[in-house]
Amino acid sequence: MPNSLDREVVFQSYEDILKAARRRLPKSIFTEIASGRDRGVTLKANVEAFDKVFLVPRAAVATVDREKATTVLGREIAMPVIIDPVGALRLLHPDGAIAAARAAHDAGTICAVSMVAGHSIQELRAATTGPLWQQLYLFNGREYAEEVISQAKSCGYDALVVTVDYPVASKSPSALGINLRSALQYAPELIVRPRWTWGFVRDGMRVGLANAPNPRSSDIVTAQWDDFAWIREKWGGPVIVKGIITPEDARRAVDAGASAIVVSNHGGIVLDGTPATLSSLPAIKRAVGDSVEVLLDGGVRQGSDVVKALALGAKAVLIGRPYVLALGAAGQQGVRAVLEYFSTQLDRCLGMVGCQNVADLDDTYVTSPWSA
Ligand code: FNR
Repeated sequence: MPNSLDREVVFQSYEDILKAARRRLPKSIFTEIASGRDRGVTLKANVEAFDKVFLVPRAAVATVDREKATTVLGREIAMPVIIDPVGALRLLHPDGAIAAARAAHDAGTICAVSMVAGHSIQELRAATTGPLWQQLYLFNGREYAEEVISQAKSCGYDALVVTVDYPVASKSPSALGINLRSALQYAPELIVRPRWTWGFVRDGMRVGLANAPNPRSSDIVTAQWDDFAWIREKWGGPVIVKGIITPEDARRAVDAGASAIVVSNHGGIVLDGTPATLSSLPAIKRAVGDSVEVLLDGGVRQGSDVVKALALGAKAVLIGRPYVLALGAAGQQGVRAVLEYFSTQLDRCLGMVGCQNVADLDDTYVTSPWSA
């Protein structure tokens, strides 16, 4: 639960979020979350792609009561900004995914929950009546996945998010692998972050990967195309394919029965050197048209980024690091503040470009190096 110091959290910029998270989190954890894999080329490209797209405002058009609500897979949401599935959230804050899900519900949006979020499917369902999506890996083949699918189904989750851009396990050392031994090794950092350290110890030092099957019987992490018929049969609801960056794979996802795709490169934490998601979006949208809903994540840091992604064909965006770092900074109140920050900035940007409704955004509102 947030304490009294968390109550007045307000963020004006992504820098504010970074600053607040840096102040609260141990250095290794902050760095692990805020950075990309290897040289961080993909993370940087994701963020910088938004600066290559320019807004084209309508002159002499002032809109009032602007509409930010939209629908995704038939579910109305208050704004086209959704919480991304992120693992090990208890490392950021003991309330972890529960805090994220509750804040999303309060903001009228959807929370996608990582299969390795750190709280169980049932705990999250008990914590909120808001819409939840369950993310799925196929760590150990189908047996464990089947259990996850059946739990998410019986708990009334809205959709299954099948992540397809993490094919094999990563062997590199990571601060997310923190345990008692490494905690001791990190002692000097932890001593200067007593509030985080106390929260982590009180929470039983649960890293948050406890829901993952163990030990791994193979290196394979994600589902493959020939798993989809089985997944759809077991799940019976909408399937979202997350981790598409080419038009060919977008078409393959449609053929595999996806209801939506997320143009995503895992925020640049899996494979460094892949192109920016925003630059991949227009060609993907052209390839699939309206046959599936196209969502996007990666590098979304402010309200105008949402406008740009929607103008280039996304129905909605998902955010990762902005809410994860805000969770680390201030728990549920941090996530609430981030969602408010996006809502306020999105509204202001719509007003400034002279757009009445997010549904009206199209490529006439931007100039982009990647448009047709
Ligand atoms: C992730 N992401 C991720 N994706 C997923 O499908 N399952 C997961 O368990 C995780 N875990 C995870 C951990 C951390 C630390 C990060 C930073 C990311 C990827 C995430 O859902 C999303 O695609 C990116 O974070 C989006 O990019 P931005 O918004 O962080 O730039």
